[in-house]
Amino acid sequence: MNNYIIQNITQLVTCSGSSAKHGRKMSDLGVIENGMVVVTNGIISYVGHSSKQFPVDHPEDYEIIDAQGKAVLPGFIDSHTHLVFGGYREEEFSWRMRGDSYMSIMNRGGGIYSTVHATRNASFEELESTAKIRLDKMLAMGVTTVEAKSGYGLDKETELKQLRVLKKLNAIHPVDIVSTYLGAHAVPVEYKDDEKAYIDFMLQEVMPIVRKENLAECCDIFCEKGVFSTQESESFLLSAKAMGFQLKIHADEIVATGGAELAASIGALSADHLLQASEKGIEALANSDTVATLLPCTAFSLKENYAQGRRMIDAGCAVALATDLNPGSSFTSSIPLTIALACIYMKLSPEEAVTALTINAAAALGKADSIGSIDLGKKGDLIILEFPSYKFLPYHVGTNCVEKTFKSISNY
Ligand code: NIG
Ligand code: FE
Repeated sequence: MNNYIIQNITQLVTCSGSSAKHGRKMSDLGVIENGMVVVTNGIISYVGHSSKQFPVDHPEDYEIIDAQGKAVLPGFIDSHTHLVFGGYREEEFSWRMRGDSYMSIMNRGGGIYSTVHATRNASFEELESTAKIRLDKMLAMGVTTVEAKSGYGLDKETELKQLRVLKKLNAIHPVDIVSTYLGAHAVPVEYKDDEKAYIDFMLQEVMPIVRKENLAECCDIFCEKGVFSTQESESFLLSAKAMGFQLKIHADEIVATGGAELAASIGALSADHLLQASEKGIEALANSDTVATLLPCTAFSLKENYAQGRRMIDAGCAVALATDLNPGSSFTSSIPLTIALACIYMKLSPEEAVTALTINAAAALGKADSIGSIDLGKKGDLIILEFPSYKFLPYHVGTNCVEKTFKSISNY
């Protein structure tokens, strides 16, 4: 459905804006009481108060929806996921609950390496069908755009297979997918103790194909003690930037390594995780255009302390929230859980949580000019809640409040 009028909206939450909102501005949701939105050919063509006179030439071409007693928001954007993977790691979850650490499991050849093994062995069709089921669930929770990474192949063939699955899903599924090359997710066993050679392999053998076939807009790296150092991350990402990739970093997740500072200094779209980000790192992000993307479901699942969301917003950062859906550290795509944890444990207000999943998440993907808010000319990606206010999102803990998701298919 590409032409519709939603009228009598009790609370129209526009999140209006075309760039990331920093600090206090994150509280400004641009709410219109008794609002109306018109979407024409998948693009928002009217935003304002409800009136009996519809602001279109041919109302008969439009589906009319009455949203009395309901809130309407921009579709949610999940700006950090590892959507495509083979196999599961349910045993590791129980080991972790008994006290094993995430990194010790990985260092024993489990963790990311276990999923690399399963993903290398999975067929294109298997990866496509499991990822499609995950996308359907996301859409039902109001997600209209998702970022998704490779990183479970660590070789040429499997990394390209993951990205090609994403390209196909983007073409056939209503949810829009922004793909990220994350070959630098771990050092593969074939290159054990020789990160330099693996980095050269990615830059010379894999990334030119990714660019040529337009398989990923962004490039990411797991900058972490024992994985890729801050220096390796910097030189790798600068080479990726020169090839035309936008940049993201898994930064300061387990050990503070200066990942936040690095992300800000090289103009990354986002620095993600940030559980251990230092004061200097938080300041650097606050003074940059780099979005601080926080993943509370990961801290929850790993039983780690949460990133300092409140402190970051007070310091002037632009914060986004995402699920980090992956088979290890955060096997969930739950937007309701993400919102609840962000508000209850990271001390975000409901307004800040909404901004973090809409316009700021769009900015974390370099797309704040086309999605993430209900503004004229943006994609008609909208959700209707079962309730009259966005404040139900954290309050109705862990429960999906989305009654209907409208996904513009103007990209078809
Ligand atoms: O974002 N930290 C690194 N990567 C993922 C986890 C991947 C996995 O465990 O499979 C993350 O948490
Ligand atoms: Fe991740």
